[in-house]
Amino acid sequence: MIKIGIIGSGYVGLATALTFGELGHEIICGDIDLEKVEQINIGKSPVHEAGFDEKLSQLISEGRLKATANILALAQDSEFIFICVDTPMGEDGSMDSSALEKVAETIAPNLNGQLVIIKSTTILGTARKIADKYNMNLCHNPEFLREGMALHDSLNPDRIVIGCDKPENGQRLMSLYENFNCSKLITNLETSEMIKYASNIFLATKITYANEMANICEIFGVDVYEVMEGVKLDKRISPQFLEAGAGFGGSCFPKDLNAMASAVKNRGYEPNLINSVLKTNESQPLRVIELLESEIGYLEGKKIAVLGLAFKEDSDDIRNSRAIPIVETLIQKDANLILYDPKATENFKNAGFENLEYANSLESALTGSDGAIIQTKWQEIRELKPSQIINLMNNPVIIDGRRALNPEKMLADGVKYLGIGWKNL
Ligand code: UGA
Repeated sequence: MIKIGIIGSGYVGLATALTFGELGHEIICGDIDLEKVEQINIGKSPVHEAGFDEKLSQLISEGRLKATANILALAQDSEFIFICVDTPMGEDGSMDSSALEKVAETIAPNLNGQLVIIKSTTILGTARKIADKYNMNLCHNPEFLREGMALHDSLNPDRIVIGCDKPENGQRLMSLYENFNCSKLITNLETSEMIKYASNIFLATKITYANEMANICEIFGVDVYEVMEGVKLDKRISPQFLEAGAGFGGSCFPKDLNAMASAVKNRGYEPNLINSVLKTNESQPLRVIELLESEIGYLEGKKIAVLGLAFKEDSDDIRNSRAIPIVETLIQKDANLILYDPKATENFKNAGFENLEYANSLESALTGSDGAIIQTKWQEIRELKPSQIINLMNNPVIIDGRRALNPEKMLADGVKYLGIGWKNL
């Protein structure tokens, strides 16, 4: 059993903790937020993720996981120290590595041969700067998990990528992953940092491609989802991440694309593709408002339900959720809003909007509405029946920003259905 310390108890830190716990190791979770530490110690995950509460409780009851705010003690006690703190987007779009640097500075004086591993996404050169500054044994080990699927993805990775400056550090870290039967790559620090960005930029571009195709399909009156069924048959194009909709959000894609754009602009290069992906992603959520207006006209005073506030289903995260520009625009147009999300309502209340009305059920959000926009594909939203929509809404208009419902069925049963990438003619 190896002692592993994990600093930062968000999605990535906790998924990493639970994964190494599952592999039989002893885990210390660290966080500066005392409330989070207390929650973890009673087996309650501070973030909504499938399996987190159950696995936390199990490891705590086996005496193999505890949380602390004492980062220094955590570092002293651990053989491997993973740093999983946020590297958020600064005012100018660039990466803000201050939390990461603070952790490195805190633990540096107490290191005695431990291996420090940066899991945070870092602009090229960041990991090496830290390794050199504090003379640390350091690796970069990017995480490829998706929120909402964090534990599943962490336990079933497609690949393990490790960046290191000394081969022995890379091998030492790879030994922790020996039970994983997947592709494994050891490379240098900067290449590992770039693999993370290159992966996220590709995925965001792929979604944006699907969104652009959706807008084009609408012009010609064809269904983008049917078109993509044909596109996906090409073995060179993997079938995932081609679901067109109101755009991508979350704590990763927008931040990472902006950080890379900002970093290379500062070095004299204009990243036209990244710029274009970001621009299209800004306008894409507004497409649902256009569709709504095309069906019901002016929105002033009309009761509009926004269904789904989280940036994606099975997550309570609203960071960069496309619900934010949708709600902003509806407010500008003086619509009467009622918002609903099964998990993300509390987080959305802190998004900076005032005087918004929240429904405590899907049914009550729909009741008396003149139109509803589907922003997140929660299971309960996917299970909506045409009869519910017709019975509850004042005007049964659904604008589907995520292809959550079956358009043919909705239209056949009398719902006025319009959707992104649907033949709305
Ligand atoms: C993303 C990557 O998928 C992970 O591999 C990566 O580890 C993570 O960022 C990170 O850098 O930490 P995440 O942002 O959690 O994961 O969630 P995704 O499932 O990728 O969804 C991102 C956004 O794209 C969501 O708003 C989702 O609704 C949207 N999306 C996704 C689409 O609009 N269409 C798709 O086909 C897929």
